[in-house]
Formats: sequence, C-alpha cells, structure tokens
Amino acid sequence: MCSFRGLLMELFDAIASRSTAKGLSEPGPTAEQLERLLQAAAHAPDHGRLKPWRFIAVNGAARESFANAVAEARRDQIPTFSDEQMELEREKIRRSPSILVAGCAVRKDIAKVPEIEQVIAVGAAVENLLLAANDLGYGVMWKTGPAAYSARVKAVVGLAADDHIVAILHLGTKVK
Ligand SMILES: Cc1cc2nc3c(=O)[nH]c(=O)nc-3n(C[C@H](O)[C@H](O)[C@H](O)COP(=O)(O)O)c2cc1C
Repeated sequence: MCSFRGLLMELFDAIASRSTAKGLSEPGPTAEQLERLLQAAAHAPDHGRLKPWRFIAVNGAARESFANAVAEARRDQIPTFSDEQMELEREKIRRSPSILVAGCAVRKDIAKVPEIEQVIAVGAAVENLLLAANDLGYGVMWKTGPAAYSARVKAVVGLAADDHIVAILHLGTKVK
C-alpha cells in the first residue's frame, strides 16, 4: 500500500520529470488514452466553473486543412515566405503523431471572471494534460507561434476570431 508521503513524492517526481520532448515519433496516444488525458485536463481549477477549454484533436482528415492554415499564418506574418517554406511548415504538422489544440472559448458576458482568468484556467488544464501524458509515457511539445494568433487557424478548429489558442500540443513517443 502507498503511504500518503509516498504519493506526495510521486507527484513531486512527476512534476520534476516533465520536460518538453526533444523529438516525437509514432505512435501517439490511443483514443482511450486521449480521453484520459482530457479528463485530467478538465480537473483544472476554473473560476466560475465556466470550463472555457476546448480541446480539439487535429488528426486524420482534419490534419491537412490545419497544416494549410498554419502555413498560411506564417505567410501572413512573413509575406516573403516561399512556397518551399510553406511546404516545410505543412510537413511539420503532417508528421506529428498526434495534435491537440487547446483553445479558450471566451465568455465575455461573465463579469466576475475576466478573460485573463479564463485563459489561465486553460493554461492550468494544459499543464494537467502534460503531466498526465508524461505519466502515460508520452512526450509532448507545447507550441504557439503565429498559428496560435491566426483567425484562419482558429476557424479551422472551430474557434471564433476573438477566442484564444493557448497551446498547439504535439504528442507522441519520445525520441531519445
Ligand atoms: C504559452 C507557451 C507557449 C509556448 N510556445 C512554444 C513555441 O511556440 N515553441 C516552442 O518550441 N516551445 C514553446 N513553448 C514551450 C516552452 O518553450 C518550453 O516549455 C520551455 O522551453 C521549457 O522547456 P521544458 O518544457 O522542457 O521545461 C511554449 C510554452 C508555453 C507555456
């Protein structure tokens, strides 16, 4: 039987051992594991219980339109971005074993929970997810960049232009 002290040490070890994966390969988490990760994420503290997080799995058929939108977001930022550079951007998205976008669907009508607190709740949910993924043995990379601030990318994942993308999470097997 684990002692309370033992459990606490495991938690501290889990936190201390989390780090961004250096590289990712297949396989990513299974559908069942993704579900567990989302449940862990949803235990985050959340002022007003608004559950502002929206986790969107960008796998299968959804991946190509996401890859296009991410590449377009880069070209919006750097107009001289070449077709070859666009293709490299798409390829980074295509080759990811699993992508989860963590969005914040902002409720502007709840005065007691300012927008920043809603975004913070999504950040807390993402950290829960990172720790849970680490516990399942998967690596994660948290990315943002121009794609996270692009209305085009937000639209592709079903977010409004004034919602936020807090994280573009790449999950997979850690490459040593
Ligand atoms: C809000 C946020 C945005 C981030 N965006 C990026 C990013 O665009 N590219 C990237 O390589 N890392 C990004 N990171 C990951 C951090 O760079 C990473 O956690 C940091 O380098 C520390 O490394 P560690 O996770 O191994 O401790 C982001 C982290 C946060 C919290």
